[in-house]
Amino acid sequence: MAKSHHDKVAVITGAASGIGQAYAQRLAEDGADIVIADVQPADETVRLVETAGRRAVFVHCDVASPDAVSALAADVEKACGRCDILINNAGIFKLQLLEEMTFEDWRRTLSINLDSAFLTCSAFVPGMKRRGCGRIINMASSTFFTGASGFSHYIASKGGMIGLTRALATELGPHGITVNAIAPAFTRTPGAMARGPRPGETDMEKSFAAAAARQAIPRVQVPADLVGTVSFLTSDDAAFITGQTLHVNGGLVRG
Ligand SMILES: NC(=O)c1ccc[n+]([C@@H]2O[C@H](COP(=O)([O-])OP(=O)(O)OC[C@H]3O[C@@H](n4cnc5c(N)ncnc54)[C@H](O)[C@@H]3O)[C@@H](O)[C@H]2O)c1
Repeated sequence: MAKSHHDKVAVITGAASGIGQAYAQRLAEDGADIVIADVQPADETVRLVETAGRRAVFVHCDVASPDAVSALAADVEKACGRCDILINNAGIFKLQLLEEMTFEDWRRTLSINLDSAFLTCSAFVPGMKRRGCGRIINMASSTFFTGASGFSHYIASKGGMIGLTRALATELGPHGITVNAIAPAFTRTPGAMARGPRPGETDMEKSFAAAAARQAIPRVQVPADLVGTVSFLTSDDAAFITGQTLHVNGGLVRG
C-alpha cells in the first residue's frame, strides 16, 4: 500500500536539529523526500531520512536572507522539481529582558523567525498554485497564548506567524493550499537546552519540570509529541483544515 506522503517533496527549514529533525524523519517514514534548509550541518538528519528509505537534500541556507532563500528555491527546483510541503520551522529563542534587548536583537529574531516565512512562502507558493495543491506549516509557540517574560521579540515573531497563517490560509485556500500553525509548549531540544534557565530557575531540568507542571499532561514535551500532527496536517486527509493553530502542548493552552 502506498504511504501517505508517497513521493512528495517536503522542504523543512531548521531541520538539522530538534523539532525540525523529528519532522524530517517522520515525513520520510511517511514516504516523502526531504530538503533540509539550515545554517548548520545536518548529517544526522540526512542519515535518519536515508534510513527511512527516502532522499535527503541538504541546502545550506540562512532563511533570513532573501538571496539565500532564492538560491534555496532554485536548488529545490533543480534537485526535486517541486515543493509539495513547506515547513517553516527554523527559529531562535534568546532569553532577554526588554532592557537587555538591542534593536539588532529584536530585528534578528523577527527576521529569522518571521521574515523567513514570508521569504519561503514567496518562493514556493507560485509552484504550489500552478499545481493546485500544497501544504504549509508555520511553527508558532504556546508562549504567544500564555505570555512569558524575557521573550518579547520571540513572542511577537510567533504572533506574526499565526497572523501570517490566517492571512495566507484565506488567500491560498482557493488554490488548494492549506496553511496551519502548530503551537508547542517548552520542548526538550538542543535549542531549548542551549537557551539557559530563566532568572530564578537554577538549571534547565528545573525549567523543564516547571513548564511540564503547568500542562494538563504534566510531563516534559519532546519532539516526538509533534510529529503525528505534522504528518496529519500535511496529508491528503487534512485537505479541509486550514487557518488553524493546533495546540500540541499537553494541554498547556486549553480551549
Ligand atoms: N523547543 C521549544 O521549547 C519550542 C517551543 C515552541 C516552539 N518552538 C519552535 O520550534 C522551532 C524549532 O525549535 P527547536 O527547539 O527544535 O530549536 P533548535 O535550536 O533545536 O533547532 C532550530 C534549527 O533552526 C536552525 N536555524 C537557526 N537560525 C537559522 C537560520 N537563520 N537559517 C536557517 N536555519 C536556522 C538551527 O541551526 C537549528 O538547526 C522554532 O521555530 C521554535 O521557535 C520550540
